[in-house]
Amino acid sequence: MYAAMSHVVAIVGATGAVGREMLRVLEQRRFPVKRLVPLASRRSAGQKLTFCGDSVTVAELSPRSFDGVKLALFSAGASVSREYGPVAAAAGALVIDNSSAWRMDPGVPLVVPEVNMEAAEHRPKGIIANPNCATIQLVVALKPLHDAARIKHIVVSTYQATSGKGHAAVEELLAQSRAALEGRPVEARVFPGTIAFNVLCDWKPGEKDYSEEEIKIVQETQKILGDSTIGVSPTTVRVPVVNGHSESVHVQFQRPVSADEARTLLRHAPGVVLVEGDYGPGKHPQPIQASGTDAVYVGRVRNDLAVDGAINLFVVSDNLRKGAALNAVQIAERAEMR
Ligand code: A2P
Repeated sequence: MYAAMSHVVAIVGATGAVGREMLRVLEQRRFPVKRLVPLASRRSAGQKLTFCGDSVTVAELSPRSFDGVKLALFSAGASVSREYGPVAAAAGALVIDNSSAWRMDPGVPLVVPEVNMEAAEHRPKGIIANPNCATIQLVVALKPLHDAARIKHIVVSTYQATSGKGHAAVEELLAQSRAALEGRPVEARVFPGTIAFNVLCDWKPGEKDYSEEEIKIVQETQKILGDSTIGVSPTTVRVPVVNGHSESVHVQFQRPVSADEARTLLRHAPGVVLVEGDYGPGKHPQPIQASGTDAVYVGRVRNDLAVDGAINLFVVSDNLRKGAALNAVQIAERAEMR
């Protein structure tokens, strides 16, 4: 097991929303770090971060950054990962990449430890990809149901937090909210419009009039569950939440599944906390409660009213933790080092 030994660990994008969470998760899980190498762009070189009570200095990312590094966690965007992922792997590091750069590459496993850890064993490029945040919580919730009854079709609508778009997006939500409350004009630089007191579809175009984020959910869900026949109908939406993604999910199976059976399957599923009880106002998984915690919360498990044998769920998780930093560190904890 990797975690038995102590290694030099680099974090690329250490000053970003996910990078900072990676530092916290490594520290909280007592990951055996011999030396931490925080990396970012020239803008942040020299900045001080705290790790395990020590002050660490951010260095500018360069091709020499990975000398002696055994584990490199990347979260600085796809172009940085495309350029420097192979450099880190060639230097001997196991690369765990949180960007979208390598996820659909057939030579790169796309891994959620509760779902398909075995895929991490075959990594010819020395890179393991961490899925998109909205996909991770979806597949953690769906895996036990898929194993029991083979999923035929998923309809998923997301309610995604601003932290998923990075640190600057959260700042913009707060600044826009203050401006709106004080009657000042709302400025939009990170978002393509107003996110305060509004909802936005802010992702780039993908294919066939779907956004890039929607296409990621389709492709990544099929790759992680290892079944390209699963139909996925996605709609992704940004809501004025600081942290924690929510998803409304309708699932149809090869054989009928009742809400009771789904609850039984989910009650002890790895990584899942089932929120039980009859419907009541406020009695459901909520991002404000999930934020800062590790679980994927599944609630509102209901029989569909129109489609026999199909169910509906509400799935909530901390997108910076299980949706990004925690999933990456869990992969590192379990990956066989070479
Ligand atoms: P920097 O702070 O120097 O801009 P977020 O997702 O919160 O926006 O964070 C993105 C992270 O990726 C930050 O740590 C940012 O560093 C880093 N980053 C962005 N572009 C580069 C680059 N070209 N080289 C290295 N790090 C980068």
